[in-house]
Amino acid sequence: MIVKPLESGEERLACLEIAKALPEWFNKVGLKSMERDLEKEKTFIAVEGDEVLGFATLKPLNDKALEILWTAVKRELRGKGIGTEMLRFVERWAREGGFEVLVVKTSGDLSYKPYDETRRFYEKNGFVRIALIDPYPEWGEEALIYVRCLHKG
Ligand SMILES: CC(C)(COP(=O)(O)OP(=O)(O)OC[C@H]1O[C@@H](n2cnc3c(N)ncnc32)[C@H](O)[C@@H]1OP(=O)(O)O)[C@@H](O)C(=O)NCCC(=O)NCCS
Repeated sequence: MIVKPLESGEERLACLEIAKALPEWFNKVGLKSMERDLEKEKTFIAVEGDEVLGFATLKPLNDKALEILWTAVKRELRGKGIGTEMLRFVERWAREGGFEVLVVKTSGDLSYKPYDETRRFYEKNGFVRIALIDPYPEWGEEALIYVRCLHKG
């Protein structure tokens, strides 16, 4: 498996297919914004041969903070380290680009079980909860904000 920048329309469609197969995490509205972001923002994909296994879409909030807008791994391949490997790649890329923190906004509905795994994933990878915003204006629902400092390895 390698991680590389998303380059083709075919790869973009493969990313959307991955997300569509994860309806517990991505609803119609989310998928619409994702489609726009996949065209506009920087995305890295994990690939094995021709198969796209996962992706991470990034957007600078300013010159020091980089937000992970979207990330997902093919449903049947989750829990095998692919998400972590993409994150390591993103962290290196972000450091080299002069960013100092990574930011992720995720569901703040702590009673919604699918996001327990997502929160575990970020926390295991060194992300720290800094705020629960309820409601987050752009979403109309709770958002949990995580940051990860990029200083040192
Ligand atoms: C979150 C996600 C990108 C992580 O990628 P991944 O390749 O599954 O994660 P990894 O294998 O690298 O890391 C595993 C860790 O993540 C967590 N985890 C998340 N989903 C898991 C699953 N289905 N099975 C096992 N562990 C899972 C656990 O903390 C696990 O650590 P552990 O094995 O020590 O318990 C992926 O599971 C996914 O696509 N989730 C659905 C969409 C989503 O939540 N996206 C983020 C929205 S903000």
